[in-house]
Amino acid sequence: METSTPSSRLSSSAAPSRLAKLTSLLPARMRERLDPYLEALALLAEIRSPQVLASLGPAGVRGLLLKRGKQGVPTQIRAHHRAHFDWGYAEDQPEMHDLFVRAKQGQWDGDSLPWHISVDPENPEVPLLPRDFLAMDLLKEWGYALNPKEERQMIHSVVSWMLSQFLHGEQGALFAAAQVTEAVQFFDGKLYGSTQVMDEGRHVEVFSRYLDSKLGKLYHINDNLFVIIDALMSDGRWDMKFLGMQIMVEGLALGAFGTLYRLTREPLLRELLRMVILDEARHVHYGVLALREHITKQLSDSERREREDWAFEVALLMRNRFMAYEVYDEWFAGRMPRATWRQFIENSPSMREFRHVMFNRLMPNLREIGLLSDRIRPRYAGAGLLHYSEGAAANQLTAQDMIRDLNTPLVLPN
Ligand SMILES: [Fe+2]
Ligand SMILES: [Fe+2]
Repeated sequence: METSTPSSRLSSSAAPSRLAKLTSLLPARMRERLDPYLEALALLAEIRSPQVLASLGPAGVRGLLLKRGKQGVPTQIRAHHRAHFDWGYAEDQPEMHDLFVRAKQGQWDGDSLPWHISVDPENPEVPLLPRDFLAMDLLKEWGYALNPKEERQMIHSVVSWMLSQFLHGEQGALFAAAQVTEAVQFFDGKLYGSTQVMDEGRHVEVFSRYLDSKLGKLYHINDNLFVIIDALMSDGRWDMKFLGMQIMVEGLALGAFGTLYRLTREPLLRELLRMVILDEARHVHYGVLALREHITKQLSDSERREREDWAFEVALLMRNRFMAYEVYDEWFAGRMPRATWRQFIENSPSMREFRHVMFNRLMPNLREIGLLSDRIRPRYAGAGLLHYSEGAAANQLTAQDMIRDLNTPLVLPN
């Protein structure tokens, strides 16, 4: 069946080479079984800073090796933060207060979305995503051709997978927002945080309802997303939760929501995403305000450097790590090497677009909160990401800017 598959070496991002050499001696079936674990080890081995490894390592073991998110039972994660009470109620952050006022006015009811629209996930007239979202022709070239009906079914799987990850991310955001509301020291930030908790609860509600009532599918949490959520939940430092959730994960989510909004033709999903995006823009704005104040005025140089390294490593980890293996397991496990699937995903046009939109959102925010010093800039330049840092940060964008942006065709750089 396979005609000319690409190399099935362990990983394009390279597992440690000695390990790769050793495993190449094993029978193909055993190699396939080891692949997820070798990929996990390669991922952890890429982290250079010992402090970052100490922060992400234990979560990495729980998520990547023990697969805690995939055992079909609830997961218990111990939280270590301190609740910060302020009995003075000083209103000393006017920009945060302004966001609080806007957030109160921007509340909406998930029931008010046009749920009456009937959604057929495999209807070619109203596609959830265009066929060329995935590199379908590569599958054909490599001997895994799908017929048109199967292609539409696979797009249904991929959209359900993406929305499932959004839903799991929203659950993480709900808990992180609640924790940060307790832990943050700005009184105006606590008031604002209460609106974000409600926002995230509503996002869990609408994504869950869409998956359940319109797509009829729910996928397990992706291992890499589990690692990030686990690390944030268990880190006691509120600013690390914030940096991870408000800046990195929400930045990624905003990029992903925006990309899906641009590409889908399904009207209910478009409206749902538009409303969620308006909320998320406020969340990232708040993240930038709170962290800029904290990082530039309250942290020591060494504490700031640790956050800078952490953000860089997490940005790299997130760049290529959402490989939709849960869809691979459903469609190709046992008949296609995982390495081939990785190449398929990496070569899909959607991946380039996701990466572009995500870093376009993320990098200006890192600049704005003071985590893009001359010390770290060469490393971002080496990773080909520095040119994204010049754009407007979340605190410089209005909701109208965001929507105009979403309705402007995307031009990717070469
Ligand atoms: Fe959210
Ligand atoms: Fe959010």
